[in-house]
Amino acid sequence: MQQTDHLPTPNDAHIRSTVGPTRPASGPAVDIQIDGATFTAFTGEPLVDAINRAQIELAQVCYHPQLGPIQTCDTCSVEIDGQIGRACGTNVAAGMVVRTQTIAARAAQRDAYDRIVSNHDLYCTVCDNNNGNCTVHNTLGILGIDHQTRPFQPKGYAKDDSNPFYRYDPDQCILCGRCVEACQNVQVNETLTINWEAEQPRVLWDGGKPIGESSCVSCGHCVTVCPCNALQEKSMLGQAGMFTGIPLPVWDAAIDVVKGVEASAGLKPIMNVSDIESAARDRYIKKTKTVCTYCGVGCSFDVWTDERHILKVEPGLGHANGISTCVKGKFGWDYVNSGDRLTSPLIRDGDRFREATWDEALAFVARRFMEIREQHGPDALAFVASSKASNEEAFLVQKFARQVIGTNNVDNCSRYCQSPASKGLSLTVGIGGDSGTIKDIENASLIITVGSNTAESHPVLATRVKRAQKLGHTKVIVFDIREHELATRADQFLRPKPGTDFVWLGAVSKFILDNGLENTAFLAERVNGLDEFRESIKEFTLEYAEKETGLSAATLEALARQIAAEERVCILWAMGVTQQCGGTDTSAAISNLLLITGNYGRLGTGAYPLRGHNNVQGASDMGAMPDQVSGYQNVTDELTVQRHEREWGVTLRAQRGLDNTQMLDAAIHGQLKAMWITGEEMSLTDANANHLQEGFEALEFLVVQDLYFTNTARYADVVFPAAASLEKEGTFTNTERRIQRLYEVMPPLKGTKPDWQIYMGVADRMGHRWGYTHPSEIMAEIARLTPYFAGVTYERLEGYNTLCWPVAEDGTDQPLLYTERFNFPDGKARLYAGEYRPREQAPNEEFDLHLNSGRMLEHFHEGNMTFRVEGIAVTAPDAFVEVSQELAAERQIQSGQWVRLVSEHGAVRLQALVTGRVSDNELYVPMNARKAQDAVNHLTGSQGDSITNTPAYKDNRVRMEILGEVGANPLPARNFRWGHPTPQTGVEVERKWARPDYVYPGGELPMLGNSLNARVDALGADD
Ligand code: SF4
Ligand code: SF4
Ligand code: SF4
Ligand code: FES
Repeated sequence: MQQTDHLPTPNDAHIRSTVGPTRPASGPAVDIQIDGATFTAFTGEPLVDAINRAQIELAQVCYHPQLGPIQTCDTCSVEIDGQIGRACGTNVAAGMVVRTQTIAARAAQRDAYDRIVSNHDLYCTVCDNNNGNCTVHNTLGILGIDHQTRPFQPKGYAKDDSNPFYRYDPDQCILCGRCVEACQNVQVNETLTINWEAEQPRVLWDGGKPIGESSCVSCGHCVTVCPCNALQEKSMLGQAGMFTGIPLPVWDAAIDVVKGVEASAGLKPIMNVSDIESAARDRYIKKTKTVCTYCGVGCSFDVWTDERHILKVEPGLGHANGISTCVKGKFGWDYVNSGDRLTSPLIRDGDRFREATWDEALAFVARRFMEIREQHGPDALAFVASSKASNEEAFLVQKFARQVIGTNNVDNCSRYCQSPASKGLSLTVGIGGDSGTIKDIENASLIITVGSNTAESHPVLATRVKRAQKLGHTKVIVFDIREHELATRADQFLRPKPGTDFVWLGAVSKFILDNGLENTAFLAERVNGLDEFRESIKEFTLEYAEKETGLSAATLEALARQIAAEERVCILWAMGVTQQCGGTDTSAAISNLLLITGNYGRLGTGAYPLRGHNNVQGASDMGAMPDQVSGYQNVTDELTVQRHEREWGVTLRAQRGLDNTQMLDAAIHGQLKAMWITGEEMSLTDANANHLQEGFEALEFLVVQDLYFTNTARYADVVFPAAASLEKEGTFTNTERRIQRLYEVMPPLKGTKPDWQIYMGVADRMGHRWGYTHPSEIMAEIARLTPYFAGVTYERLEGYNTLCWPVAEDGTDQPLLYTERFNFPDGKARLYAGEYRPREQAPNEEFDLHLNSGRMLEHFHEGNMTFRVEGIAVTAPDAFVEVSQELAAERQIQSGQWVRLVSEHGAVRLQALVTGRVSDNELYVPMNARKAQDAVNHLTGSQGDSITNTPAYKDNRVRMEILGEVGANPLPARNFRWGHPTPQTGVEVERKWARPDYVYPGGELPMLGNSLNARVDALGADD
């Protein structure tokens, strides 16, 4: 069983270079002396990094390699060229002579520690944070301190328990400010500050609110980086230690005993006991690396468990996220142990379901599939893979369809969101995935987002955008019809009319070409199709675009000039683009704009369609699609057919199968008789709920595989209880094309099975003995069949190692695509002459409002998992409809008013939330719904992208009927959206240094290590 190491240590040079927020590129290598030996260091890097690389033990309480120097603790004081200074706040210069252990340096280090620890009650033996990685505890050991000369002084503030997931104990807070730095400059939620001028400083939320009434989004960054137990996950409290669960009066008495011993015998004996207690925890605390099962950012972390109890999630080493998480990844795991998990297969018995054994249910499904295939042929069956399940499992779904059944009727939920983006990129640059990684986005000089609520749908990726902008390294332009968080922070927020992105993209491209602002060398060397493209956009003048989009010609001209002049441009887009009638054309138009300006193949450039589900990229990569097998190989391709014949012993069917949308149509028309749906709440997420219901009811046989008895399961004939992601092994592929391993955190809940074993069980009973004993064997088969995955092995993905496909046989991967050639035979990209497809459902007299829908930060997709997380459910209890202030005034609506939204397809009843996020006649409904009858897909129609069939969820019109009742505001007072952030440049340590009672322990600090500039330099992006 895989167990992983603790958080990264400052000594881990590998982490410095690849994990976490971007840090500055190092300057030239130089020699410096540390403790008498010569080491190579890099000019401009924090001296502490060089000392850590040299593996010289040095206290450094406030320094965290992913935060950079914040200089609040002074414990890293060393002698630099004869003067005492902070190693974290001093940048390396050639010839530096550093001594870490002189008497003066040691005295400064100990004095600094003594000062900060007077803020902290050292009761390690009965502390939940005594897990071997407590920085405050460990520093005491490094410095060999036996007595505190400044005794602990309570600050006189109560603990704050008002957040559902973590608590703050001011009396344990050493005021290091790591949490503030993380909140201000990594998460960039700007909730935390320290009131340095107060008599007793402490950490403040929104300037002094209870946490639960603040703007805190519960991302957990602050808790993750806190070097002690001042900020602690509530799931740890009373649970982690051998003695920490004892009742409060006894616990208080235990602390008194501990302190009494310290007074007489010093700290060493106490620390020895606590070290023994800490070591004993290893026997029952398991730490397992996994990958988040929510969104496509692909955050990875260790999960600490005591049997099935999740103690905490500890990020640090993940390539996509480093120390970062959002509320779902850090705290959203209650669903795994939810009391309503399915634990037995169910077989329909009239109007009811009865429990069945696995053997009976697997045999029954196999028999019914064989009967239906016998009677109606293989194309009477269809299969939907889960974008939440692993790569190996998605691969097996399409293998089952193609090898066991003999049909190409297989698809995954990218049909509902990402297919147009993949197609648009395949047409222009040859690979339907992000062209680079999050590091590229961080390093852009201009980031443009189009139809993407990035801060709520891809929260950790958004932190990197916000951070790069806050630190002044990039500009951000947001195109959206709704003023979401990133829009409020953007340098420019542009609100085109719904569904008109293709037009402004065309107009900007035309202006660039007409005015000679294009990258001529790039076009000449690397791009085909310029003349046809030029011809295709000839009507798209700025004036036409102004009329169609509502954006002024002057704005568009300035934008065109800016894009052409920028050094490095990344464009990010999501469902606001793809869930439109022209989703593919607009995605290709984005790629066209990047091509004519030469923004591909270099650091900080490229196209980034942001993937929604954790493994929606992987489900398509694995061939869960009606026309392509794994690695986007066409089912008609001769080599591909031969390879599969050799491996599977069957000939692939040459014709395209049915996609998700077509499957339901085929069921209604009697051609499709059976479906097997894995981990997909189709009844709440596919467009047009009534049509779906009709389709499901028309099927002869439906198999649903999920964690719970979902709304889709109500239509099933057999329901298989699946294991959750924490209960199995496999790989996920995130939006960066990054393949990452997940390990089994806990065994499958009794009665459930991992999806891959369920597919095997049915295949086995249909005469195909696959015989896999571990998902690594499935990956080996994937590698044999898939050139893009040729070099992917579980060994290469061990622990936190990752690979971004394509991966050559020797294991070389490609985080940044198109550095030398595009993915076409001649290596050149192809400008795509697309077509403007205006929206089909513009408001009319009967349905006078435009309906938009999308995700909320707290919930994932329809909410089946996140509504089962108590702390999320209390702060975001249900869906609502956002109504603009103008519309509310016109129709006399207040927040809490019940309304009925009616479209041509159905109706839902929701409470109104009056907000400035939407404007005029735009409505917005989150797609998560507690009750199936409130789901927004009752309102959305079947129209869609003409190339990929992706439903145009964003192209809908409704009318709003005002109902009599007015209830409480649907967003509870404790929701973070009511908070008032307090932006600062960071922890603002200069204010601490300005306190009359502050004395630098090394004496008067010379210019070394000063201060704000060093910190900002060190946080900066690579330029
Ligand atoms: S938003 Fe909240 S949880 Fe996240 S870093 Fe800030 S204070 Fe901590
Ligand atoms: S709460 Fe913040 S300031 Fe206090 S010890 Fe933790 S990280 Fe440092
Ligand atoms: S939901 Fe997305 S951003 Fe949040 S922790 Fe999971 S992968 Fe990261
Ligand atoms: S580590 Fe805290 S001041 Fe350097």
